[in-house]
Amino acid sequence: MTRKLAAGNWKMNGTAADLDRIARLAAAHPEPACEVLICPPATLVSRAAEQAAGTPVKIGGQDCHPETSGAHTGDHSAVMLADAGATAVILGHSERRADHGETNLTVQRKAEAVLAADLTAIVCIGETLDQREAGRTLDIVEEQLFGSLPEAATAENTVVAYEPVWAIGTGKVPTNDQIAEVHSHIRTRLGDHYGAAAGTGIRLLYGGSVKPGNAGEIFAIDNVDGALVGGASLRVEDFSPIISALDGKA
Ligand code: PGA
Repeated sequence: MTRKLAAGNWKMNGTAADLDRIARLAAAHPEPACEVLICPPATLVSRAAEQAAGTPVKIGGQDCHPETSGAHTGDHSAVMLADAGATAVILGHSERRADHGETNLTVQRKAEAVLAADLTAIVCIGETLDQREAGRTLDIVEEQLFGSLPEAATAENTVVAYEPVWAIGTGKVPTNDQIAEVHSHIRTRLGDHYGAAAGTGIRLLYGGSVKPGNAGEIFAIDNVDGALVGGASLRVEDFSPIISALDGKA
């Protein structure tokens, strides 16, 4: 059974002065039952990986280019992230889909590059408020799922993060029933498409306003295998109880 995953997405936050969070987090969780991943901005990945060396904390990227190298000013590849010490990459976050016009196909090509670099792809999907209110959530999520996931997805190399766009950074969280409905749908459709092993083994994270106060309740929902945490991953005092809540479930 794959381990649960507590992933922190620092987004465009953090400089060298913030790297001590990693050592403090590792000290607070010397032997976590779940996997702990911090995804700092690209500028910090290699220094974060140095800080995390010898601890259970793993380091990831927040995006990469689909190609390995070339004339793409300002971009970085999955191979470069691996070289810097990353073990995973977040892909297709709704902020990238919105800010950079990333389509499902772009995300899928990036995910394939991540697998080729022997890293774990954390693929984000989720509906907007308009789409939810129009009753289209399951259709949208399914379209993004199969449009964005690499064909070679397995339980070992791919993680899906369900992040309703309207819940990210807003303090609004879907009801437990809404999370359960989407996660169960994703689980079933993964099984139909990739076979039983991937269907049951691919970890499904929930993301969007996860905090110490709601983490335990969210982790108790069926088919929730962890969380992708933005704001609350920036403070050890907030991220640490989220890890403990997940360990309670693991
Ligand atoms: P949030 O962000 O926890 O700040 O809502 C989650 C995310 O964007 O991954």
